Amino acid sequence: MDNRPIGFLDSGVGGLTVVRELMRQLPHEQVVYIGDSARAPYGPRPAEQIKTYTWELVNFLRKQDVKMIVLACNTATAVVWEDIKSQLDIPVIGVIMPGASAAIKATRTGKIGIIGTPMTVQSDIYREKITSLAPQSQVESLACPAFVPIVESNQMNSPLAKKAVYETLAPLVGQVDTLILGCTHYPLLRPIIQNVMGQEVALVDSGAESVRDISVLLNYFGINRDPRQPAQGHRFYTTGGADSFAHIAGNWLPDVPFTVNHIDLVASLDEVTV
Ligand code: DGL
Repeated sequence: MDNRPIGFLDSGVGGLTVVRELMRQLPHEQVVYIGDSARAPYGPRPAEQIKTYTWELVNFLRKQDVKMIVLACNTATAVVWEDIKSQLDIPVIGVIMPGASAAIKATRTGKIGIIGTPMTVQSDIYREKITSLAPQSQVESLACPAFVPIVESNQMNSPLAKKAVYETLAPLVGQVDTLILGCTHYPLLRPIIQNVMGQEVALVDSGAESVRDISVLLNYFGINRDPRQPAQGHRFYTTGGADSFAHIAGNWLPDVPFTVNHIDLVASLDEVTV
């Protein structure tokens, strides 16, 4: 048993979609979350910058004494997961492999679409993972740079969101039977995406799929939280506005106690020496 929290990171509020699934499957675990909304989106940034920012988030979480780190961000997973995994002595989970495997299971025709940030699509990592497991698959990738700013500004139900999803996804409509939501922000747009793609298309939520991996690794390392001492409250930190984060988290998460605090990441890392 290990009653320390699990650390989650994302460029902003997207990782909440992974946290929601964690709370459903493993409700006694405690969450510490850092979202870098002040610097979101990460997707259009150069790889080196994404690396630096993600390491800052990782170091913040390590100071919170977490027992595991979840990169609840496809972009960070694509760029820096291997590096972080190899340097930390606690388990580090990425969200890409679980989404790729789930899509292979879900597809009937082998035609799989993947939508993500410009960096995730440019990395071509989903195609690599999918074709290494199922070489006959046909993978279509599409970058959707408009989606993350819509979610970060809490405009998920706006006409702007509908227009952006409709226009961006047009090239994929009718082309695939399975679509990977390869960015953890996208499940917040899921009803619109499903509507545009058609009800017959299976949507795969890569973040939610990764909760099974979290569970497997907690068991493997024997670091589950004692279910007799369930988490009393979750701690969320954002480099952006705490009110906006709390609003989105309150709408998206189940009815659980949590706190949201704004944090100046660089100053907080300076405060405590490793
Ligand atoms: N939510 C993130 C992802 O899964 C990052 C989005 C962004 O900041 O561009 O890729």
